Amino acid sequence: MSDEALRKHLEELSAALREHNYRYHVLDEPVISDIEYDRMLAELRAIEEEHPEWITTDSPTQRTGSQPSARFVKVTHPASILSLANAFGETDLRAWFERIARLDERVARTRFVAEPKLDGLSIVLHYQDGLFVQGATRGNGEVGEDVTANLRTLRSLPLRIPAKPGGPQPPADLYVRGEVFFYKADFEALNKRQAAAGGQIYQTARNTAAGTLRQLDPSITAARPLALYVYNIVAADGRLPATQWETLDYLRQLGFPVAAESRLCAGLDEVLAAYAEWKETRDQLPYEVDGMVVKVDDLGLSDDLGVVGKDPRAAIAYKFPAIEVTTQLHGIGVNVGRTGVLTPYAMLEPVEIGGVIVRQATLHNFDFIAEKDIRVGDRVLVKRAGDVIPYVIGPVLAARSGAETPYVPPQVCPVCQQPVEHIEGEVAWYCINSACPEQLVRNIEHFVSRSTLDIVGLGIKIVEQLVQAGLVKDVADLYSLTREDLLQVEGFADKKADNLLVSIQTSKTRSLAQLIYALGIRGVGDVVAQMLARKYRNLDQLATAGMDDIDDIEGIGPSIAEAITDWFSKPANQRVLAKLKAAGFWPQSAPPKAPSGPQPFAGQTFVITGTLPSLSRKEAQQLIESLGGKVSGSVSAKTSYVVVGEDAGSKLDKARELGITTLDEEALKALAGAG
Ligand code: IVH
Repeated sequence: MSDEALRKHLEELSAALREHNYRYHVLDEPVISDIEYDRMLAELRAIEEEHPEWITTDSPTQRTGSQPSARFVKVTHPASILSLANAFGETDLRAWFERIARLDERVARTRFVAEPKLDGLSIVLHYQDGLFVQGATRGNGEVGEDVTANLRTLRSLPLRIPAKPGGPQPPADLYVRGEVFFYKADFEALNKRQAAAGGQIYQTARNTAAGTLRQLDPSITAARPLALYVYNIVAADGRLPATQWETLDYLRQLGFPVAAESRLCAGLDEVLAAYAEWKETRDQLPYEVDGMVVKVDDLGLSDDLGVVGKDPRAAIAYKFPAIEVTTQLHGIGVNVGRTGVLTPYAMLEPVEIGGVIVRQATLHNFDFIAEKDIRVGDRVLVKRAGDVIPYVIGPVLAARSGAETPYVPPQVCPVCQQPVEHIEGEVAWYCINSACPEQLVRNIEHFVSRSTLDIVGLGIKIVEQLVQAGLVKDVADLYSLTREDLLQVEGFADKKADNLLVSIQTSKTRSLAQLIYALGIRGVGDVVAQMLARKYRNLDQLATAGMDDIDDIEGIGPSIAEAITDWFSKPANQRVLAKLKAAGFWPQSAPPKAPSGPQPFAGQTFVITGTLPSLSRKEAQQLIESLGGKVSGSVSAKTSYVVVGEDAGSKLDKARELGITTLDEEALKALAGAG
């Protein structure tokens, strides 16, 4: 490349990096992966090393981290909060080792600590005489933002140390560094709650953690379960452990959460072995990791090795292969689910993500495509995390050529060609043709799956064959299949047919809750099915229950109640029920236990709203029910009491409007005790 072309390339790289930096730190909306960003930065750095005369003060290589925002009080850290250099492969890691070994002969003999590199947000916690007094974000490494109030809401953050009885006394002044993140399960649950409330779906756990920690209203932070791990002592007065391994143990003894996966490695070979193992098992970890941090164990040696720019020489981030990459979006396909819901998916230029070739990724729903303005032909950012289906994060706008075509959602079901429908208040579009063959196959697949009726030997291929042959037109037809029927189907011989017939027969012993769940009513998962089976003895009772009666069950709202009554009102479904009954599959649930003890709340209806100080919703409900009271989801003139906790919403307004007595938790307990 000529100097002129190289210079031009440098300027383009700088401009692109500046934009990505802004998107990441200011907007919390990255369009490329961290790894791609790091690669571009490394390329820029390499050019600048060749041509130091081209370095400008505003080059992205000349700063690390983001500036603190003006909204929070600034906190000056007691020491620089350093960052880490990256190694993208074994060659990089060995080069790092050789570099520091040349600087100090002790490196050849030192041990290393390998720690999971949590994909979260760096924070610094300050303790005075064992009390948590302040917590700050990393900011630009020198000055961060005071997020004490938000950090206090983290359950795993010790507000006083030693948090464990009998633990060592902490130094009078102690600054600890750690990472704030979401457990994968908590992040998924948060998104489920968001979806149920019709709210925004969060794309990346890391950005959501950042946004959550920087909420001006700590009650928002409190409602989202952030987690914490610590790994460093930034500053302290008094004697401290001499090695990193002892530091982790010391922090653990003080009662801090410390990653249990961390390992002490005798030398570089053990580090490489641990890396190989973690790379394979990282999907099974309960949190997301983007690599392994390798640290020189001897802290005296670490200090002596010093710092280059913002990176300590004694540690390095050994990254895992990308799980976020960009690739071309060739087209958008549409799947039909068992409830008829249409789900768009991306047809991608095949790409490797974390060791797996990905060709398709979910696009969530049609609103998502419109909101992100995803167009066919776009370069898109795709992520694969854990065992979830890969998903598209968004388009890379900078890569648009103008030849991309906006996407128009289908007006008819792609399988049966019947018009699709939108349900008020929901983002999804549905194929409402109950005879749609794709829906039928998905319905049967759900009906027989392990979590519902567990009919062994009825995989998706066989279900498709049975539907195609016209032998099964609804789920109840399974119970009238004969040996002769099955023998017509390709691949069935006597034994296989008999086995399947036996497992179909056996499924008739399943419980009412399992059958309700298996029917595939919209919004009725296993938990709701259990609630229904507790209230109604059999499907006759459920089929004739009114919407209000179902809505009265705590945990079931009006939209699910409506979906249930709707389902039972459809003639096609009534035919299914009649066939199930005729086949002798009509489970009954056990009657409720006879009340024991005094029933002072008998005949009274309670509504619980907001968060109670000590009782969970469920506990409060159990308390009321154990004393003979009923708990309902909505306030009406029939409500006897409304139990009010923190952040109570419209139900409290309604109670006031209707003049219904309100109780706080204490008053409820008093009433229960007095009764
Ligand atoms: S040590 C001098 N250890 O990764 C200490 N960092 O890419 C430098 N990180 O800013 C950091 N897990 O936010 C360290 N076990 C761990 C870590 C960790 C995650 C983050 C940290 C840091 C970033 C550097």
